[in-house]
Amino acid sequence: MTSNARPLALVTGASSGIGADLARELARDGHDLILCARRVGPMQALADELKAAGCHCTVIAADLSQSGAAASLVREIESRGLVVDVLVNNAGLGSNGRFNTSDPLRIAEILQVNVVALTELTRLLLPNMVERRKGKVMMVASTAAFQPGPKMAVYCATKTYVLSFGEAIAYELRNSGVSVTTLCPGATATEFAHVADAESAALFKGLLPVMDAKKVARIGYQGFKAGRRVVITGLLNKIMAISSRLSPTPVATRIASWMMSAGK
Ligand SMILES: NC(=O)c1ccc[n+]([C@@H]2O[C@H](COP(=O)([O-])OP(=O)(O)OC[C@H]3O[C@@H](n4cnc5c(N)ncnc54)[C@H](OP(=O)(O)O)[C@@H]3O)[C@@H](O)[C@H]2O)c1
Repeated sequence: MTSNARPLALVTGASSGIGADLARELARDGHDLILCARRVGPMQALADELKAAGCHCTVIAADLSQSGAAASLVREIESRGLVVDVLVNNAGLGSNGRFNTSDPLRIAEILQVNVVALTELTRLLLPNMVERRKGKVMMVASTAAFQPGPKMAVYCATKTYVLSFGEAIAYELRNSGVSVTTLCPGATATEFAHVADAESAALFKGLLPVMDAKKVARIGYQGFKAGRRVVITGLLNKIMAISSRLSPTPVATRIASWMMSAGK
């Protein structure tokens, strides 16, 4: 398989929120796109919008919560003769509530999308980038990665995984021609809080400024383009993340619990 004339970026979770706006950033910067999520309608609408900017989009529906979904997606991409230059692992979801009463199926879905599919997709697509000494990967983690998160325990743990994984392979791949950037947004106005049943949590009710997805994508894309290993969006989020790393874990955990409280 040969390289594309315009670099080709695969964006997971491109049907809404941060993923859709990252797709817009990539298109504006001369990439063609593969848009992937479960909902085809919003991705088709995005593809039509981006066509005006000269971007060719391929829409592929995939449910990344299914075992083997990453491999099926890569097979589908290869069967179309496409070569991925940029991977944006953005798809993700959370769930608000105490762990002992959480729906086990929901837990499995979160682990599969946020951790397993992200890891498998990266493993499947990286070798070709490394072989060509050309490629870029973005992982979308969260400021939730920096401390344990009571009432969103599994979600926060998955984001700690994503940050650790992203930083580790960024180090492994130094001098390889392939960069890995882990984006850590704070609270962002997307469908996330609704999907996670967390709209009433203090975090999403203006305790800290809630950023819009466009701004998160703009900041994330700039850092990604510059090859930065970790990008935290906004000064306050940076201060919070650094404070969490420097604080004793019980203190950081208590503050995180307080941020998720109020509604539940
Ligand atoms: N919003 C925040 O406050 C915030 C803060 C920090 C980090 N993040 C992270 O940012 C990323 C994007 O989230 P967002 O805020 O933009 O929320 P969002 O608007 O809910 O977008 C989530 C995206 O993930 C996709 N997705 C969910 N389950 C999927 C599945 N089973 N298979 C394939 N795709 C799936 C959704 O598409 P379909 O439903 O169409 O499948 C959607 O496109 C996530 O990783 C999230 O953890 C969000």
